[in-house]
Amino acid sequence: MNHVILAIESSCDETAASVLINGKIGSNVIAAQAVHQKYGGVVPELASRAHQRNIVPVVAQALEDAKVRKEDLTAVAFTQGPGLLGSLLVGASFAKAMALALNVPLVAVHHMQAHILAHFIDDPRPAFPFLCLTVSGGHTQIVRVDGYLDMEIIGQTQDDAVGEAFDKTAKMLGLPYPGGPLVDQYAAAGNPKAYAFPGVDMPGLDFSFSGIKTAILYFLRDHTAKNPNFVPEHLADICASVQYTLVNILLKKLRKAAAETGIREIAIAGGVSANRGLRDALNAAGRELGWQVYIPKFEYCTDNAAMIAVAAYYKAQAGQFSPQDVTPMPRMEW
Ligand code: KG4
Ligand code: ZN
Repeated sequence: MNHVILAIESSCDETAASVLINGKIGSNVIAAQAVHQKYGGVVPELASRAHQRNIVPVVAQALEDAKVRKEDLTAVAFTQGPGLLGSLLVGASFAKAMALALNVPLVAVHHMQAHILAHFIDDPRPAFPFLCLTVSGGHTQIVRVDGYLDMEIIGQTQDDAVGEAFDKTAKMLGLPYPGGPLVDQYAAAGNPKAYAFPGVDMPGLDFSFSGIKTAILYFLRDHTAKNPNFVPEHLADICASVQYTLVNILLKKLRKAAAETGIREIAIAGGVSANRGLRDALNAAGRELGWQVYIPKFEYCTDNAAMIAVAAYYKAQAGQFSPQDVTPMPRMEW
């Protein structure tokens, strides 16, 4: 059967739409929301209002770029969760209305599963089973993937997500939101071993990042008390050292997961997979341990609708459609 799927992503502060035609991405449109920058983080109420303003032009652009008419669509997909309720509601309501008007089925997609399935947008595609370290602003997970729709979380953070640790570090350093990419940028010119931050060793394959955040806070407070210019004078070294610490924690558990499962197909996904330090460390571990490593293209690391479209494609093939009364789930389980 031919599939022409419109997918909508609105879980946080990006309004995105994509059209997928028979398994291939025909368009991928993203409207980022600059409104949050001056608040140093996403303001949920402003996010949902911006989604309301953006959704019509973003969807129209996605259809136009893919040269597809509304009437050609065979399904409409949307991010059901996890995410901000008000933001999810805009995408869900729009998708439902569109599916109803066009009389096509709805596909509800799990945002984190979609991050993983972004690996099936283009070649090279991982072979099953593979492990995926899924790292974003809200999640840090190691997932065992046995099939497109067959995934199991085998380790995860017990407190903060690693993306949050990057963003909060950036905030403490006085960098604008979202700070993760800026920490990455400054780290490039710094010495990763300039400073050491103690991490908490969690049992099994789980993670903890809240202790490091506090360690960084105290470190900055103590150094700034002695030298008020400590941060601007040592910004690159601080960023490089924090990044090195966070990446090491991720890699340590990923190595453990690979050793325990015997799986050597290893992928990363989610916003933090754009991080250069993480990409380099993964490639190095791959060379050392004989892993086949999969790193998404930059545009498919952070939130986008192409990944929602691909996930919807596999769900549609499996006949997994949703009824019109499906509701967004801010804390959606697996
Ligand atoms: O997947 P994503 O776009 O949204 C969520 O689902 O959360 O991930 C956003 C997170 C933010 O914490 C952002 O700072 C982080 O990914 N991020 C990065 C980089 N690019 C995005 N963190 C470190 N280095 C980067 N280059
Ligand atoms: Zn995401």
